[in-house]
Amino acid sequence: MTAIDDLAVNADLVLDLEPVAAAELERHLSIAKEWFPHEYVPWGQGTNFDGIYEGTEWDVEQSPVDGVARTALVVNLLTEDNLPSYHRALSDVVGRDSAWGEWIHRWTAEEARHGIAMRDYMVVTRAVDPVALERERMDHMSRGFDSANATHVLMSMGYVSFQELATRISHRNTGLHSKDEGLNRLLARIAADENLHMLFYRNVMSAAFDLAPDAAMVAVANIAEDFAMPGNEVEGFTRRSVAIALAGIYDLRIHHDEVMSPVLRAWNVWDRTDFGPVGEQARDRLAAFMSDLDASATRFEDKRAARAARVAAAE
Ligand SMILES: [Fe+2]
Ligand SMILES: [Fe+2]
Repeated sequence: MTAIDDLAVNADLVLDLEPVAAAELERHLSIAKEWFPHEYVPWGQGTNFDGIYEGTEWDVEQSPVDGVARTALVVNLLTEDNLPSYHRALSDVVGRDSAWGEWIHRWTAEEARHGIAMRDYMVVTRAVDPVALERERMDHMSRGFDSANATHVLMSMGYVSFQELATRISHRNTGLHSKDEGLNRLLARIAADENLHMLFYRNVMSAAFDLAPDAAMVAVANIAEDFAMPGNEVEGFTRRSVAIALAGIYDLRIHHDEVMSPVLRAWNVWDRTDFGPVGEQARDRLAAFMSDLDASATRFEDKRAARAARVAAAE
């Protein structure tokens, strides 16, 4: 048993949080807007590829976006593609019955739309190499997704609260960086879905903090220290993340200021008075982690600025 199980039994908490999940599901369904992937794709730009239809082979010259946008698009799409494993990871923890099951299935259906819409757009506009993309999808999905966070409802709800917000920002900034109007429109639409997902998980986790403050605090401190995006198993993820960070699409500063900090504030972690010694200790650990993260973010920004200055001087 993990320390978190000792503090709060998973099955009990899943049951206690079920009415919250039900209320959040209702709220979600009342504000989520229906949208259609096919409307976001410029089909008229499409042409046949080589192979069965004897069209034109993909070439990088055809791509309407730059190399960094291609890198971010591929990482983000492969991340969306691994949905079956995320569905399993979540449903293993909270089950597939009651409001939990209804939410997980609805969420899965919405997430599936993201991969469908992105792939259609990227293939029709020849934004990325479709052969490399398919090989990577096969490789990535064949390896599945396993996470230490998929062991307890507090770990799962905490992790996805951060991850949905990180994904929202990553999609949004990829769209802006691409300077492709249609892609920007599609990724903004997807980012709006991710924001609603974040709200569901963040609100459930808020209720979990009230029900089991110490256990929730330990879970969040653990998640913060170990946080990795679900796409981190993608081949060459580190190299690709550096390119994405250098372009300012997703970097440590964004992770600290726009993802971790606002979610932690929404849970009121810094001002809570309901922690015992275990929760207090976890909060201290989180505070130390956040200040290290802030320092690392500043170091990265300084290095990036120096690099930009060197490039400008060489031009
Ligand atoms: Fe998504
Ligand atoms: Fe999402």
